[in-house]
This record gives sequence, C-alpha cells and structure tokens, in this order.
Amino acid sequence: MYTGMWTHLHDSNEETSNKTLGNTMRLIRNIYIFCNIVVSVEGWAPKLPEGKELATNYSNMALRKVPTDLAPATTTLDLSYNLLFQLQSSDFHSVSKLRALIVSHNRIQELDIKIFEFSKELRYLDLSYNRLKIVTWHPLAALRHLDLSFNDFETVPICEEVGNMTQLETLGLSGAKIQKSDFQKIAHLHLNTVFFGLRSLSHYEEGSLPLLNTTKLHIILPMEVHFWVLLCDGLKTSRILQMTNIDGKSQFLNDGPPRHLTSENSKTSTLLFSKVDLLWDDLLLIFQFVWHTSVEYFQIQDMMFGGQVYLDHNSFDYSDSVMKAVRLEHIHFRVFSVPQDRIYLLFTKMDIENLTISDAKMPHMLFPHAPKRFRSLNFANNILTDELFKDPIQLPDLNTLILQGNKLETLSLVSCFANRTALMYLDLSQNLLQHGKDENCLWPETLISMNLSSNKFADSVFRCLPRNIQILDLNYNKIQRVPKEIAHLKSLQELNIAFNFLTDLPGCSHFRGLSVLNVEMNLILSSSREFFQSCQEVKTLNAGKNPFQCTCELRNFIRLEKHSVGMMVGWPDSYICEYPLNLKGTLLEDVYLSELSCNTALLIVTAVVLLLVVVMPVAVCFLHFDVPWYLRMLGQWMQTWHRARKAAQEQLRRNVQFHAFISYSARDSLWVRNELVPNLEKEDGSVLLCLCERNFDPSKSITENILSCTEKSYKSIFVLSPSFVQSEWCHYEPYCPDNSDHTILLVLEPIPLYCIPTHFHTLKALIEKKAYWEWPKDRRKCGLFWANLRTAISANLIDAREMCELQTFTERNAESWGSAVSLMRTDCV
Ligand SMILES: *[C@@H]1O[C@H](CO)[C@@H](O)[C@H](O)[C@H]1NC(C)=O
Ligand SMILES: *[C@@H]1O[C@H](CO)[C@@H](O)[C@H](O)[C@H]1NC(C)=O
Ligand SMILES: *[C@@H]1O[C@H](CO)[C@@H](O)[C@H](O)[C@H]1NC(C)=O
Ligand SMILES: *[C@@H]1O[C@H](CO)[C@@H](O)[C@H](O)[C@H]1NC(C)=O
Ligand SMILES: *[C@@H]1O[C@H](CO)[C@@H](O)[C@H](O)[C@H]1NC(C)=O
Ligand SMILES: *[C@@H]1O[C@H](CO)[C@@H](O)[C@H](O)[C@H]1NC(C)=O
Repeated sequence: MYTGMWTHLHDSNEETSNKTLGNTMRLIRNIYIFCNIVVSVEGWAPKLPEGKELATNYSNMALRKVPTDLAPATTTLDLSYNLLFQLQSSDFHSVSKLRALIVSHNRIQELDIKIFEFSKELRYLDLSYNRLKIVTWHPLAALRHLDLSFNDFETVPICEEVGNMTQLETLGLSGAKIQKSDFQKIAHLHLNTVFFGLRSLSHYEEGSLPLLNTTKLHIILPMEVHFWVLLCDGLKTSRILQMTNIDGKSQFLNDGPPRHLTSENSKTSTLLFSKVDLLWDDLLLIFQFVWHTSVEYFQIQDMMFGGQVYLDHNSFDYSDSVMKAVRLEHIHFRVFSVPQDRIYLLFTKMDIENLTISDAKMPHMLFPHAPKRFRSLNFANNILTDELFKDPIQLPDLNTLILQGNKLETLSLVSCFANRTALMYLDLSQNLLQHGKDENCLWPETLISMNLSSNKFADSVFRCLPRNIQILDLNYNKIQRVPKEIAHLKSLQELNIAFNFLTDLPGCSHFRGLSVLNVEMNLILSSSREFFQSCQEVKTLNAGKNPFQCTCELRNFIRLEKHSVGMMVGWPDSYICEYPLNLKGTLLEDVYLSELSCNTALLIVTAVVLLLVVVMPVAVCFLHFDVPWYLRMLGQWMQTWHRARKAAQEQLRRNVQFHAFISYSARDSLWVRNELVPNLEKEDGSVLLCLCERNFDPSKSITENILSCTEKSYKSIFVLSPSFVQSEWCHYEPYCPDNSDHTILLVLEPIPLYCIPTHFHTLKALIEKKAYWEWPKDRRKCGLFWANLRTAISANLIDAREMCELQTFTERNAESWGSAVSLMRTDCV
C-alpha cells in the first residue's frame, strides 16, 4: 500500500549483495510491517514526510460512490473498474494531496473538472473508458497527464482552458467528429504524446491532426475507419506514429490512397502498426505508400494476412526511399495463394539495413542474386531449414544474423554462408544443429559472438568455432567435456556451458583470457586441478546446481568464494552437496573440510609433531628416572628367579654352605663391609656370605681357598672395579666359566674394555655381553638393587644342608671313614 517507501526499499534491496540478501529481506519485512502500521495509523494522524506517497486502491470493487473515508494523505487513488456514474466536488475534498486519480472503466456521463479545484497537486487524471459526453472545463495548472479516450463525445472535448494547461504532456482524446477548430485551441501546446482512443469516427476534417504539436501520435482506429487520410495526416503530425486496429477485411483499402493524398511534408520517421488484418494486396499498397515517405523504421506487429494476389510484385518501386529498417513480428497467414517466392523477394529486394521477419512460421527465405547491403537480418522463430543456405547468398555487409528458433541442422553449412559475410553476431539458438567430426568449418574473422544454445551439439562443436570468438553461449546442449585437442580461442571472454552434461569443471588452457564461465546445472561432482591451474582470469563463475561431492577434492572450490567475494554467481544457495549421503542437502558454504583431514603432508607433519610431543616427555621421564636400568633389573630378577626355581634341585646337590662367596679387591673392602655385607646379610642370619676376611683358611694357598669357597657357596659374587681386575682377577679367571649361573659380576665402577688385559677372555666376554650387575650411583635405586641381588643368591640352605648330610652319609658308607668325617666337618657344618 505504501508504494513510495516500498519502491525505495526495493531499490536498495537490489543493490544489496546476494550474501546479505537474507538479512536484508528480513529487515525489509520488518520495515514494511512498520510502514503498514504507520499507514493504518495515518487515518487520524495525517503527518507523512514531504514527498512520500500513499496509494489507495479501490479498483474493481463494484463501487457506486466514491468512498468517504479516504485517507487524507492519499496521493494516488485508483477507482477503476467500478460502477461510478458521477463524481462530486465533495468526494475529493478530504484528499488535498491527491496527485494521481484513476477513474477509468466506470459509467460517468458528465463531469465538471472544477471538482478538482482544491486538488492543486493533481497531475495524472485518467477518465478513459467512461460514457462521458459533456465536460465542463476548469484549468488545472499542474495537470500533465489527461486521458479522455474511449468516451462518447460528439466532438473532441477541447476548449480554451485546455490551452492554458501548459504542463500537459500526454493527452488522450476521443470524439465522433474531428475538426480543425478543436485542435487550434491547443496548437500552441508542446505535447509529448497524443492518444486517440476512438470508438467511432463519423467525420474527419482533413488537416486536423497536423495542427497538433506532439512527438508521438497514437491512433486506435474505430471500425469505420478513414485509414488513408488518418495515415497521411498522422505522418504529417509527429515523429512517431502508431496506428492500432487496422482492419482491412471489410474495408476499402483496395484502391490505394486517394489521389489527392500525398506524402509530402511527412515528418514521421518511426511508423508502428499493430493489430493488423489485411489482404496481401492491401499490405503491398501500404508498403508502397510508406516507401516514399519520411519513414525510416517501419514495424508491423500482430499481423494477419491472406487472400488472392492481383497486384504485380515486379512493379513495386523500390527507388527513392529513406527506409532503413522493416520489422514484421507475429505474422499469421490466413488461407493464402501467393507464390512464396514473390513474398520473400518483396522483402529481400528492399535495399535497407535491417530486416526482421519473426514469429511468422516462414518455411523458407529467398534472396536476389545481386549482393544486398543488409546489415542485420532477424528471422527468429520461423521454420527455416538447411535449405536456406543451399543457394549462395551475397550479403557482404551483414554483421548480425538471428536465426533463433528455426529448424537448422548443420552448423558447417551456416559457417560457409557466414564466411562470405562480415558477421559479428550470430544467434543460432533453439535449432536442431549438430556438428559432424569430418565437416569443415569456415568462419569469418569478424565473428565475435555466437549463441548456440538449445541445440544438439556434442563435444565436437568445439572443433567448429570461429577463431576470434569472444562470447559463446552453449547452454542446453549435450556437451560432456571440452576436448583437449581444439584450436586456441585467444579472445574468448564469456563461455556459457550451463545445462549440459559436463562431469568436470573445464580447464581454460584453450581460452586463457576467459573471464566469465557458466557451468550451472551440469553433472559436476568436484573441481578439477586443471581449472585452478588454467582459469586464473575467470572473474565470474556460475557453477550452481551441480551434484557436488563434498569431499576434500572440493575444498579449493569452496574456498574460491572466500578468497574472491562475489565471484560465484548464486552463492551460497545454489551450491549444495549431493554426495556423500550424510552431507546431502548441505550448503557448500557450511561444509567444513579441515585442512588436516585433506592435506596428507600436513597430516604426516602433524602426526610426527604430536608423536614428538607425546614421546618427548616420556623419553625425558624415561631417562630422568633411568627406567632402562629398572627394566634391566627386573629382567635380571625374573631370570634369576626362574633359573633358581629350575636349577634348585640340581644345584643344591652340591655341598653348599654359603649363599654367596664375595671376592673383591682390598681397595673395595670398605664398600663391601659397609654396603654389601649389611645389605645382603640380614640380622636373622638367613643369608650367609663367605668373605675372605672371615672365612679364608690362612693355612691354605689363595687358590685353594678360592676353590674351596667357590665350591661351598651357592653363588660367587665378584665385586669388579679396575683395581680388582688388575690385581685380583688373575686368581679367578681359571675358575670362572663364562656362562656360569653361579657367577655374579657386580661392577662397582665402570670398567673400560681397554683396561682389561687381553688374556682375561672370560671377563672380557662377560663385560661385552653386559652380563653384569651395575652398582647404581643413584641412592634411590639401591633398595631394589639389593633386593634383586638377595633374590639371586637366595636358596634354602637348610634343605641343602640336610641333603648334604644325606649325601655325605651315603658317600661315607661307600668310601673311607676318615675322609668322610673330615669332609663332613669342613664342608657341611
Ligand atoms: C490496483 O489494483 C489492481 C488490481 O487489483 C491493479 O491492476 C492496479 O494496477 C492497482 N492500481 C495501482 C495504482 O496500483
Ligand atoms: C488562459 O490564460 C490566460 C493568461 O494566462 C488568461 O488571460 C485567460 O483568461 C485564461 N483562459 C481561461 C479560459 O482561463
Ligand atoms: C513543437 O514543439 C517543439 C517543442 O516541443 C518546438 O520546438 C516546435 O517549434 C513546435 N512546432 C510547432 C510547429 O509549433
Ligand atoms: C539495425 O540493427 C542493428 C543491430 O541489430 C541496430 O544496432 C541498428 O540500430 C538497427 N538500425 C535501425 C535503423 O533500426
Ligand atoms: C572463407 O574462409 C577461408 C578459410 O578460412 C578463407 O581463406 C577465405 O578467405 C574466406 N572467405 C571469405 C570471403 O571471407
Ligand atoms: C542465447 O539465446 C537464448 C534464447 O534462445 C537466450 O536466452 C540467451 O540469453 C542468449 N544468450 C546470449 C549470450 O545472448
């Protein structure tokens, strides 16, 4: 209702970019609701800002009276298509701001213009299609548009006051009689459009129309038409003349214009006929008449023609004309018996620039053999076939050819024809065109724009394109891909392949300069690498409504709009995932494909980094708390425990008196006394150690002592330190089997291999194998170390002693008594 504001808002809406359309629409809706509230409140608070408009529409409401409750702020009031038969002064008192009043299609018979006295701003008054016979005039200074057409006036209702309406631009008139005296009163007005809506015309005084000064004259003819005289006078009146309802069936045209009518002094350059129904001969006469007037552009729309032909076409006089363009649109034939050739040639022999014969169901077209200087031909929406190009046609100046909507089939034929012209624009859309692989195409160098949409072209069409093509429309064809082996189209700027069967975004390696690409509604799943490599020049891309597969391959494509806003036509609404199924229906804009999941290199790097992040602390802990040492200890403990169990029986058969025999260097004796002994030998005496200080028999040699101690002990522990290796090991080397379970090497201080004399093979081997226990420098680890060592040497010596006794007893029986006693005493107790 609130048109002014609405229009304004609508404009601003159009300026808004697509992206914010949703928001804007919401905003507009809100504002519009607000405006509606304002409007409905207006009834009792009439304060609209200056220049705003309020339209009130009472159209088609069967009103018999003008409503009394008109909003005072109303600027436009539509009362058309009602049953009003009278307008009164009081009707419009309340609407002093009224600028436009439409009262057409009512039943008003009489009107006093004075009722608009107080509507000082009234500019537009439409009283057409009433039954007006009498108008009482009053000058309305502001009036610009006054329409009194299609009323029942006896004479044209013009008087002095109309002459005083100096603002008048458009004037609609009617009247059964038209005479000069009526027009003399407004001859001084400079009008834009004069419009005659005539229901009947009983009398026309020749020379009346030319009194008017108007740019455009439009006459809607009544049935009993004075066609020729109105045409002649009309041509003398305005630059643009339009005549509607030329019905020659029942009329008199046949004889041609009366002799006294001449085309001298004609002013019209544009002549428009519409709703024409003529015999062919009448049409010919009209053409011949108009041919020698000032008309440069002659258009006939909605024409029906037919009938017999009596006139001789060859006598048509083409000479002496300023005609430049003829346009025939929407032509229907009635039963018709004219040889087609004559009709075609009547038009193609015209030496004019532009010829249009469209929507005429014309099956063929012929051209004279001599070259013609047509520059533009438009035969759109006929039924022309390849026959058209069978005969050579000479149109060297032709630069525009429109054959849209015909039945052409062979593109190469068109190209051969085009090669003999200077064609720049060629529209072949909506035909049945195809291109065979073996056919040759010859296009003129001049051709830069082609419309090949809605044909049957497959991929091979790319082999038949003009070299200099700039704009190419291949909409609605059957193209599956752009072939790789085609000529380079350096100048191509716009390429439209929408509504085809492309499965990939095409690359631009054959048209590097492309800036507009349309591939809407194809079968494109994802974007190709080639597209991103070669289509850098593309500024506008329409790839909407494709069945996108929203996987990593599409990621660059999704990013495209983010990088260059406004590049993607229809973004985001037309870009929707089709696959995978869980994303079906999602806008591409909303699809999140993380960098990580898509970039393999990045994924690897990240994994490595993560691994490092996790592993580093572990490794640091590992090293800091010396976990390997603990593990090794655990391993050793497991091993010894296992061995101990397995070997228990066998080992205990020996005469074991001590859990361990400790051998060490004198230098380490302090450590042995203070550390080792207290830690291994518990107070309860459950662990017995054989120490040289305590248990060596001074009467025997060192070697004998060692041998005896080794034999009496379950394990032998060698406390290794460099000094021990150098001074003591020589005694033990011979008794130390390199894989003995009985031997435990306890390394007190690290012993570099080079410190070990070469002949100590066993020791060297053991050290190399790391088959030793290392005394931990870290105090915290000592507890575990000792526990482990205790396990290694633990054995049930009581059992062993009993077994030993049993064994000894048996041996005593078998061998001599004396030695057995001594053995028992020295070995077993
Ligand atoms: C009033 O409404 C009718 C249809 O109901 C429409 O044709 C006409 O243009 C409207 N008039 C104005 C001034 O908007
Ligand atoms: C027309 O205007 C002129 C002066 O502008 C005035 O003298 C004359 O009376 C007016 N005619 C009518 C009929 O109002
Ligand atoms: C008609 O009006 C135009 C201005 O619109 C003016 O230039 C021209 O001289 C007028 N012609 C006549 C015959 O008064
Ligand atoms: C002829 O056609 C061309 C192209 O269609 C157009 O630019 C030109 O204005 C036309 N000329 C006339 C006189 O209508
Ligand atoms: C037609 O095309 C051929 C090959 O492209 C060219 O050599 C010849 O000059 C063209 N003829 C005309 C009249 O343009
Ligand atoms: C090609 O022709 C079709 C109609 O046949 C039209 O819709 C389209 O806009 C034309 N393309 C160009 C680029 O003019």
